[in-house]
Amino acid sequence: MLFPEYRARRLRRGDVMRRMVRETHLRVDDLIYPMFSAFGNDIKQEIPSMPGIYQQSIEHIVAEAKEVYALGIPAVILFGIPEEKDPMGKDAYCDSGIIQETIRAIKKEVPELMVITDVCMCEYTDHGHCGVIKDGDVDNDETLKLLAAEALSHVQAGADIVAPSDMMDGRIAAIRTILDENDFSQIPIMSYSVKYASAYYGPFRDAADSTPQFGDRRSYQMDPANRIEAFREAALDVDECADFLMVKPALAYLDILRDIKERFDLPLVAYNVSGEYSMVKAAAEKGWIDHDRVVMETLIGMKRAGADLIITYHAKEAAQLLKG
Ligand code: PBG
Ligand code: ZN
Repeated sequence: MLFPEYRARRLRRGDVMRRMVRETHLRVDDLIYPMFSAFGNDIKQEIPSMPGIYQQSIEHIVAEAKEVYALGIPAVILFGIPEEKDPMGKDAYCDSGIIQETIRAIKKEVPELMVITDVCMCEYTDHGHCGVIKDGDVDNDETLKLLAAEALSHVQAGADIVAPSDMMDGRIAAIRTILDENDFSQIPIMSYSVKYASAYYGPFRDAADSTPQFGDRRSYQMDPANRIEAFREAALDVDECADFLMVKPALAYLDILRDIKERFDLPLVAYNVSGEYSMVKAAAEKGWIDHDRVVMETLIGMKRAGADLIITYHAKEAAQLLKG
């Protein structure tokens, strides 16, 4: 026998061979596209740190939702920018709130598109925190009441899935209870189970006008140094009957994605967050990286790590690349 006996390169010869032994696949069905719905008329304002992503009023959101669905992307996740913010974030759970109106408009025009809503208070509170403030910190149990009301209101407006991102303790149970009591036992909850206090959310906070006006989110979002704690968070959500688990951000937390995938049976979502998107766009603009290849490599990396679904601002680009 000639040396070396086993030659790994035999299976890398040519595109067809590589296709046959490919282990991981990215499909358009895996993608969820985030959108920012702003109060007003004829608004389409690009977010400077997120080229290609806009704050848009409802008619533009609906037009883009049609485009997204035509590309084969099955779902969008909606964030709201209300007309007015106040300490209690009233627009979040008001039937005529920005998200409620947006959901109705999308479901009317593109009924097949899955509408997921981000359930949190930070887009609606004037102080920018994810809940009600008491003694200088977010009050967990008071916030649960508002989150439950918000989730119910989204579902009454036609949301298909609710996705709480606030990181309060007990929120999945609180939301499950109120949905079940109101005959919405068939509506799944996609929990932002493992959500770190991350600098990668910077561009999103410009997009959603949701930067905390004092302090930071470290009393409710997780410490980036922690791994075991992620298992406790996910276990609580499973216990409280979450239907999907999520790890967020994705890129600096691929080990956590893998760990959660191995320990829990629920469909797992990775959130490829705003700062991850901005970094790729900025480097590509400078001509320092090959944009399309980096996007696809990033997304396949998340799938390989264990993600079943990926929330990504690249969803439309990726869908197009998968077609071509
Ligand atoms: C709301 C929320 C945030 C993101 C999703 N939902 C921001 C935050 O927690 O500060 C971040 C998404 C992104 O950066 O793309 N709580
Ligand atoms: Zn929030």
